Amino acid sequence: MANFISLPIGSEVLTLLNLKPAIIITTVGKDGSINAAPYSWFSIVDYNPPRVLFSTNMKRDTYRNVLETKEFVLNFPSVDLLKQIWITSKHFPYGISELEKASLTVFPSEKVKPPRIKECKAHVECKVLWTKPIGSSCLILGEIISLSVDEKIEQLGTKDRLIQLNPPLYFSFKEDEKTRKWLFASIGKIHEMTERNDKFEITSETL
Ligand SMILES: Cc1cc2nc3c(=O)[nH]c(=O)nc-3n(C[C@H](O)[C@H](O)[C@H](O)COP(=O)(O)O)c2cc1C
Repeated sequence: MANFISLPIGSEVLTLLNLKPAIIITTVGKDGSINAAPYSWFSIVDYNPPRVLFSTNMKRDTYRNVLETKEFVLNFPSVDLLKQIWITSKHFPYGISELEKASLTVFPSEKVKPPRIKECKAHVECKVLWTKPIGSSCLILGEIISLSVDEKIEQLGTKDRLIQLNPPLYFSFKEDEKTRKWLFASIGKIHEMTERNDKFEITSETL
């Protein structure tokens, strides 16, 4: 039997609860400037109509733009874009495009002003429904109004699509005076659960 140890509710909260794909959110300001930043605290929260929620620190340019123009795009990078994710997370002055700094390519969205990122494999375009401040952060609820995926993965079954999306799963962040460390995982094994005629089966596949 395992023994359990209580942890202080501090940075350990991040380590235990943070395991989420990292995406890049693009927004525009009312001056038309483009902003991009990585986010991991996001989730689909309703299906019909489809809605997503994400949380952002209220000091960030993403927050300012969401209030100014009420639209955002979730861009899904695969794990090979980790360096670009890091560059877009830097605090550049307002109006400087992180996408240019990271040499990422913008192209127009189908239904909103914030652009999509060409190097990302999927894009979710949203319009803001409401915002709710919670301490230093703010929850942003958006309605999904358009979805797009790389045509190379559109034809694939869900399992192969997951393999191709290959999302960086963000787990923890630690820093000291000299070093900042972000820990990510990526998919190495796939588990499929099947229920048929009241029988249940799990098949696992190492990639
Ligand atoms: C992998 C990763 C995930 C992040 N997730 C979030 C998040 O969910 N919420 C948040 O407020 N900041 C998050 N950040 C930090 C923001 O990306 C960072 O503060 C960024 O500079 C904000 O940019 P902006 O001022 O251009 O909006 C994350 C950073 C990284 C590297």
